[in-house]
Amino acid sequence: MSAFWTVSAVLLLYFTQNSCVTARLILAKLGDSVVMHPGQTFDSISAIIWKHNMNIIVEWSGANTTCFGGFIGRCGLDKTTGSLIISSLTVEDTGHYNPEIDSKILGVIELWVIKPVPKPTVFLECNKEKSLCDLTCKANITSHFGPVMYRWEAGKDVLSRSTRLTLTKANREHSYVCMLLNPFSNSSSDVVLNPISHTGFHPAAVAVPIVLLVLTLFAVGGYVRHRKAEKKQAQTAEAAQAERTAMTLKGVVTDRTHLQHGGSALH
Ligand SMILES: *[C@@H]1O[C@H](CO)[C@@H](O)[C@H](O)[C@H]1NC(C)=O
Ligand SMILES: *[C@@H]1O[C@H](CO)[C@@H](O)[C@H](O)[C@H]1NC(C)=O
Ligand SMILES: *[C@@H]1O[C@H](CO)[C@@H](O)[C@H](O)[C@H]1NC(C)=O
Repeated sequence: MSAFWTVSAVLLLYFTQNSCVTARLILAKLGDSVVMHPGQTFDSISAIIWKHNMNIIVEWSGANTTCFGGFIGRCGLDKTTGSLIISSLTVEDTGHYNPEIDSKILGVIELWVIKPVPKPTVFLECNKEKSLCDLTCKANITSHFGPVMYRWEAGKDVLSRSTRLTLTKANREHSYVCMLLNPFSNSSSDVVLNPISHTGFHPAAVAVPIVLLVLTLFAVGGYVRHRKAEKKQAQTAEAAQAERTAMTLKGVVTDRTHLQHGGSALH
């Protein structure tokens, strides 16, 4: 019910502001050409006048076609249909166009010359924990851009059609882009990486690997030290063994010498 009244109010506003309800709306792109048909067909035409916001911009009555003001050099007429042709459209061409064919005043046409949308900028606001973030898409939009739509995309998915995108821990997308669109163009913001802090970035999740790393280093260090000590011990034992062996051999040799001496003494 309230929606109905809102629509009615908007329509009422439209009708009261535009006394001529039959105005046809034409959207055209900046720099392009447009052909505006008078909205009625004729068997033969002998005189044409087109006005822009009540000023005569082109005139023809069997001889030359004369364009005026800012339309000189970029206006023309189709004498069989009565259509007005304007090339190299500028923002100033926006407005109401009134055709007069053979002195007959015809319905007004509303022309909107639309500029390509600008590149939007994304503003980021997060809570301290980075568990909740608002991305706001901003661009300096004026009426010269025509009807502009906003769109938030993550890869090929459209997440929102408003200026703001709210992210929570449930948002696991890698990155986001805000796109502005009008009937003739679109423009995307720079890519914004997902600012939400997920479990991988939780303080505990950072602390645990660090503790593990420290423990590992301790363990490795301990092992190396242990191995070194073992080696040293082994070396000491080896040395002692070698000494003992040497002493034993020496003893044997001494004994032998004694024997030899003894032997020779026996001879
Ligand atoms: C029509 O144009 C011709 C040359 O293109 C010019 O000589 C003539 O004076 C013009 N006629 C009118 C009525 O402007
Ligand atoms: C928006 O654009 C208009 C026209 O180009 C300019 O006059 C105005 O200063 C701009 N506003 C901001 C906030 O950039
Ligand atoms: C954006 O514009 C390009 C051409 O400029 C077009 O190819 C593309 O389909 C448009 N994208 C959307 C989503 O309209």
